[in-house]
Amino acid sequence: MDGWQEDGTSRGVRHVPVMLDEVLSLASALTSPSLVIDATLGAGGHAAALLEALPSVRYIGIDADPEACTRSAERLQAFASRLEIINAYYDEALAMLRERTPAPHASFMLFDLGLSMFQLGASGRGFSLAADEPLDMRFSPDAPLSAADIVNSWREEDLADLIYRYGEERYSRRIARAIVQARRTERIQTASRLAWIIGGAVPPQYRHGRIHPATRTFQALRIAVNDELGRVERAMRLAPDLLAPGGILAVISFHSLEDRIVKHAFAEAAKAGRVELLWKKPREPGEAEIASNPPSRSAKLRAVQARETTAGSLEGAGS
Ligand SMILES: C[S@@+](CC[C@H](N)C(=O)[O-])C[C@H]1O[C@@H](n2cnc3c(N)ncnc32)[C@H](O)[C@@H]1O
Repeated sequence: MDGWQEDGTSRGVRHVPVMLDEVLSLASALTSPSLVIDATLGAGGHAAALLEALPSVRYIGIDADPEACTRSAERLQAFASRLEIINAYYDEALAMLRERTPAPHASFMLFDLGLSMFQLGASGRGFSLAADEPLDMRFSPDAPLSAADIVNSWREEDLADLIYRYGEERYSRRIARAIVQARRTERIQTASRLAWIIGGAVPPQYRHGRIHPATRTFQALRIAVNDELGRVERAMRLAPDLLAPGGILAVISFHSLEDRIVKHAFAEAAKAGRVELLWKKPREPGEAEIASNPPSRSAKLRAVQARETTAGSLEGAGS
């Protein structure tokens, strides 16, 4: 996730890459890094800093959102000769990279999961609760299902299960009931309308909590529309194969569902002898970062390092 501040740019949003110091210090500790794979290019914030700090690396940046690819290509123009941008879901892009001859092997791989603030701020796809925008939430226009398709057609029990499982929302049943009631009179078309319906469905005290009562339902819809958890799981299985010996894989996640998948995938890869855990517990942003960039507060950074010499898929890997 990115933080954002008004700064008078064309879209009025400036992206603040999360845990950048930690990411840079991991990457800078590598001896002669030659390739970085950035699975979530987003606004190109981490990419700009990494390309600057590592002047001899080639950089492959992946993003499912064509707008993110266009924006970051513009921002990273100065590095164009070292940069390849792939507009695809990261699990599919990694599978494709693995089939290349020779397959690329990265000194450093980064996943900064979730949503970028330009998507939240001005994507026109209804990621933000307050937005009077179509309820879409697809990172890629090729995804089969929009959030509006789900809220307007799923059965009440399925909606409630989705909101409970992917949103970890305790009022999932009330919210699902309110959605089904509301759509009987009129199709739910916009993000702001859905947020309003949810606000009316939960107990009054829940409306005044730290987060908006619709936040968890929006998270659940976004996860379902983009198959976010399935993609993290597949990508975590593929990523170690694309690391060079000694290469580092770093993942920043923003909610417990993602973090759990990353934690288990890393533990399995370590058990299989493919990687070593760099730390047992995830790193988190410091107070100063949280104060200057509040959306960073839920970030968790986990990292593993591929063994220097190992059999199997790492044998003979070059970058
Ligand atoms: C938090 S942002 C990355 C921000 C970036 N690190 C920066 O500093 O600007 C996450 C990005 O990942 C993309 N994304 C999320 N899930 C994806 C997936 N499964 N495949 C490819 N891109 C994905 C989103 O479109 C978004 O642009």
